[in-house]
Amino acid sequence: MFLTHLHCTACGLKHEWSRLQNLCRACQKPLFAEYNLAALAKSWRSESLATRTRSLWRYREVLPLPFEVEPVSLGEGGTPLVRAERFGRELGLTSLWIKDESINPTQSFKARGMSVAVSMAKFLGAKKLAAPTAGNAGGALAAYAARAGLEANIFMPNDTPKANVIECRELGAKVTLVDGLITDCGAEIARRKEKEGWFDLSTLKEPYRVEGKKTLGYELAEALGWNLPDVILYPTGGGTGLIGMWKAFAEMESLGWIGPKRPRMFTVQASGCPPIVRAFEAGETSAEEIRNAHTRASGLRVPKAIGDFLMLRILRDSKGGAIAVDDEEMIDATREIGAAEGLFVAPEGAACFVALRKLTAKGMISPNEQVVIFNTGSGIKYLECYEP
Ligand SMILES: Cc1ncc(COP(=O)(O)O)c(C=O)c1O
Ligand SMILES: [Zn+2]
Repeated sequence: MFLTHLHCTACGLKHEWSRLQNLCRACQKPLFAEYNLAALAKSWRSESLATRTRSLWRYREVLPLPFEVEPVSLGEGGTPLVRAERFGRELGLTSLWIKDESINPTQSFKARGMSVAVSMAKFLGAKKLAAPTAGNAGGALAAYAARAGLEANIFMPNDTPKANVIECRELGAKVTLVDGLITDCGAEIARRKEKEGWFDLSTLKEPYRVEGKKTLGYELAEALGWNLPDVILYPTGGGTGLIGMWKAFAEMESLGWIGPKRPRMFTVQASGCPPIVRAFEAGETSAEEIRNAHTRASGLRVPKAIGDFLMLRILRDSKGGAIAVDDEEMIDATREIGAAEGLFVAPEGAACFVALRKLTAKGMISPNEQVVIFNTGSGIKYLECYEP
């Protein structure tokens, strides 16, 4: 295995990887997994991927978990990057692509993070797992915990889409509905975890969900022949995918697989819950919590994210930006995308199409630039949003 240690994203303090770990012991900020990339650069060629399975575990050398340990896997990752020709043409774009994450196990990209995090939690001895969720992460945790033979304790707001709640229960998880937001769910877990013996899998509050999500970046580069697109639009709640991809880009450059070019990264949020958009516009380095956050795109209803400072840095370093869209626009766009491209996207994915239309109208994206949108989930999980 090439994992060497965990490294605090804020104060730089090193931590061992070999025991269950949440935040930095010194400053309570997120920890990143670090690998011996110098050794890997000498021995690992991207060509070796050609014969490997189409799961995110094909990038095993840059994932945690000793090689002899079987990952907890349901076939996550390896999703298609599909051309969105008709929708692109309408906006005057010649190269628009959708990374369709709805075909993951439990129908969202949350499967990536949970496969890696549950694998590591099990390996390091956790027996009972707990996580707050906007919905999709709960379904994924329930599935991977069941697969691992571990207990899942899932806390979600009481107005989470019904499909997510039912899915978690049918996968054998213990579900608690909370009268509040995902931040209240997280606080409830923090209050009880010690007494209950739960390992807290809140995103970016343990080091490995981001490792699973970073494989979005590896897959993108691999699909594009070890190039990165000009622009990425990412529907942002906790920001784990955005942060993970940026980490993956740096790793791939260290491996000699890609050059220094980076996409302009755009965060897309809902008008009813835009903490990162507000902070970006105000030139802040961290984001204020949003009061009375509301949006039907439940994955975007994250009023405060622990990785806010990392996201804001990435948006600025990449010369990208942050944009908020209204719920009505997302819901209306779903049918347009569906009819044009044959994908029933999640509202979070739809939000990116609306954002793209706004950015092209403002001239912030040029016609021949290569643009990738992340459809992070499936519309099937949000039927309430489409009922008349
Ligand atoms: C479908 C969907 N898209 C986007 C997000 C936001 O993901 P992230 O936490 O990586 O910002 C979520 C989170 O729940 C989600 O379920
Ligand atoms: Zn620290």
